Amino acid sequence: MRLFLMPTLLAALLATACTDRMQPSDDRWSRGGELIAMSGGEAGARYACVSCHGARGEGNGFDAPRLAGLPAGYLQKQMQDYALGLRPHDVMRDVARFLDSHERVSVANYYAALPVTALPTAAAEAVPATTPALYARTCQQCHGATGEGTPLGPPLAGQPATYLAQQLQDWRFSKRRNDGNHEMLKVAQALKAEEVHALSRHLAQIPPRPAAPAR
Ligand code: HEC
Ligand code: HEC
Repeated sequence: MRLFLMPTLLAALLATACTDRMQPSDDRWSRGGELIAMSGGEAGARYACVSCHGARGEGNGFDAPRLAGLPAGYLQKQMQDYALGLRPHDVMRDVARFLDSHERVSVANYYAALPVTALPTAAAEAVPATTPALYARTCQQCHGATGEGTPLGPPLAGQPATYLAQQLQDWRFSKRRNDGNHEMLKVAQALKAEEVHALSRHLAQIPPRPAAPAR
């Protein structure tokens, strides 16, 4: 934790943290993914992952997704994409830029290995009867029949509806641009606004599965 440091020193720290240090860091906060999750690593306590993503990586049920049990490679790619600005988000950009590549790997491995725990479900919001068929037609091939994820797309089941809708909107308006072949851009731009919300509510209500095998 760096809270005691002077602002100028913090600024210097920020500058060095932005360069990717390839050699293993001997900083005691970067030794394990769990320490980063609890402490925020170089970014400091206000960026401790647990404060937004929950003590067990279950998410906050609103805008911060579940991390527990997501594929390690996916988690690592997202942090890289936040740092590069391919996935714009002010908080996650700062969090990701403070972590070097070793730290991103260790915190990704930590969350990927955590057991999947669902948030207590709020009162289920109504989903149109046609939504499961829309999901099966347009999303299932990459995200799996029950949103459990496949090698072609990450798990979506049990993620907060607000979060899922935000991602789809970001793709519709080309704000999130980190899908290699623009598969999500095309999918999202073909959806009507009401379909975005119906699909997000549908997926949020599916209980997340225990961790899929790493890919
Ligand atoms: C202040 C709150 C906050 C903190 C602290 C925070 N996050 Fe996040 N995180 C978010 C929000 C909000 C999002 C969703 C952003 C978006 O819409 O793209 C997110 C998204 C993510 C994602 C994308 C997940 C996915 O399914 O695509 C990853 C990975 C992630 N965070 C990892 C971390 C890690 C690791 C830490 C700690 C080092 C951390 N976050 C700290 C709020 C936070
Ligand atoms: C051709 C494959 C493909 C299809 C079809 C597809 N997706 Fe995706 N989806 C992906 C990939 C790949 C990603 C991850 C991109 C990245 O690396 O960030 C993704 C990511 C997402 C995310 C963000 C997840 C997160 O944790 O941030 C959401 C939400 C999503 N897809 C919803 C949908 C919905 C809803 C449909 C159907 C309307 C759909 N997808 C159809 C491949 C696909």
